[in-house]
Amino acid sequence: MKHIINELENRRKQARLGGGQVRIDKQHQKGKLTARERLDVLLDEGSFEEYDMFVTHRCTDFGMEEQQIAGDGVVTGWGTINGRMTYVFSQDFTVFGGSLSETHAQKICKIMDLAVQNGAPIIGLNDSGGARIQEGVASLGGYAEVFWRNAQASGNVPQISVIMGPCAGGAVYSPAMTDFIYMVKDSSYMFVTGPDVVKTVTNEIVTAEELGGASTHTTKSSVADAAFENDIETLLEVRRLFDFLPLSVNEKAPKRETKDDANGIDESLDSIIPDNANQPYDMHEIVIKIADEGDFLEIQAEHAKNILVGFMRLNGEVIGVIANQPMVLAGCLDIDSSKKAARFIRFCDSFNIPILTLVDVPGFLPGTNQEYGGIIKHGAKLLFAYAQATVPMITLITRKAYGGAYDVMASKHIRADVNYAWPSAEIAVMGAKGATEILYRSELGDKEKIAKRTADYEERFANPFIAAERGYIDDVIMPHSTRRRLIRAFSTLKNKQQDVTKKKHDNIPL
Ligand code: HXC
Repeated sequence: MKHIINELENRRKQARLGGGQVRIDKQHQKGKLTARERLDVLLDEGSFEEYDMFVTHRCTDFGMEEQQIAGDGVVTGWGTINGRMTYVFSQDFTVFGGSLSETHAQKICKIMDLAVQNGAPIIGLNDSGGARIQEGVASLGGYAEVFWRNAQASGNVPQISVIMGPCAGGAVYSPAMTDFIYMVKDSSYMFVTGPDVVKTVTNEIVTAEELGGASTHTTKSSVADAAFENDIETLLEVRRLFDFLPLSVNEKAPKRETKDDANGIDESLDSIIPDNANQPYDMHEIVIKIADEGDFLEIQAEHAKNILVGFMRLNGEVIGVIANQPMVLAGCLDIDSSKKAARFIRFCDSFNIPILTLVDVPGFLPGTNQEYGGIIKHGAKLLFAYAQATVPMITLITRKAYGGAYDVMASKHIRADVNYAWPSAEIAVMGAKGATEILYRSELGDKEKIAKRTADYEERFANPFIAAERGYIDDVIMPHSTRRRLIRAFSTLKNKQQDVTKKKHDNIPL
């Protein structure tokens, strides 16, 4: 018996070495952790249970039969994060560059199937050169099996992708189908084809960082949701994100006790809106002042900064926040911000996370760039996502809510449940200046008259009361009592039931 136990130990030791010490050292020299070291940081100590440690590839071309490495370039299994279960896979760059073979794909598919069956999230740590070149179509088939499962798992269990090295070709499409993508600055890349292919095909000379580095994907392309300094920081941030998420569509997001008073008053909110309606203020401040412990996990913070999206807790309950940001483009809605917010709403709605919308929006951004880029279709994504959401939804208008953007930003009419406004709210078709210039065009030469007309318009419309008179706003609330009012309102919606018409699925303007 002893020699069999020794054999197991030896095999395990060998498997843990992956592609060997030389390649592990190379990985460390690049400032990267190995696949297993990453799991040690991500998961609670001692919680990882590995599956398929002894799986090897079946390829016999290009001399591959001589190169069998136990595990075949991916470490898979399950573990816990703060005691809650998750399935994981971690690609091992020391084994054929983490490239995906048929068996490598089968390992990933196995844990994806278990995750959906058992109702636990899937976290993928990606560090892969894409399809295993030696395997050809078997590898492509493997990818497609993973992609198909990504689609089936979507809305069923949360899926998080962490990009921790060069991810090329097929290695980027599975992450793109998951709910969140985190990257590591300076050591992770995502591209369909690398800089060499780009040069050959288009003559463009571009570095890997410019083409698909963390900065490109968190600012320009919006493919990634956040990026952090190194492997450890990134994995700790994944743990933080995980704490906001339910394990599956059938479970609630975890409640976390808070020391912050549910009836707390914050007088500083009474003076946060500047006297001048054209002066910006930082919407982050409002979010942080009302959230438990001032804790706001922002998603896509570096992209479309004219809208904020992310998670916070109110009296311990997880809430998804969507908020216009007057500091950037005056908080206008444009193509990027509409897409960013729509996707976040879809996530919250699919996993039963209630939504808080904070509104200060002067309208949709005008211009040929926006029209040619399809603002109509992209704005409709946001409208569609809100109109279709069935989770508890509360809206608070802090200042401007003009025009179509008033309708879109979770107005009562598209079925927000409770709509509040601060006394500083201005709910109108447009700003006073624009309105008088259209209504009194013939008087534009007379500055005094126009000023009077503008003042009259402001007096009549730049307030929340006309909407409140019609019941579009349920109450005009004191800014200092916002936290208390929101907590009380969300508590009334705990058992919200909304029947969804039975159909195959909708046709969101993708
Ligand atoms: C097999 C691979 C591999 C791959 C890397 N390796 N990519 N083996 N298949 N796709 C191996 C290398 O041979 C090397 O082995 C080791 O991994 C490390 O690679 P290096 O090139 O030395 O590392 P580095 O300089 O850091 O460059 C990493 C890299 C580069 C940028 C990922 O290796 C690269 O460009 N690889 C090819 C990327 C690619 O074109 N993949 C196919 C995409 S097509 P040794 O033995 O020396 O350690 C695709 C189709 C799917 O994915 C489409 C589905 C929609």
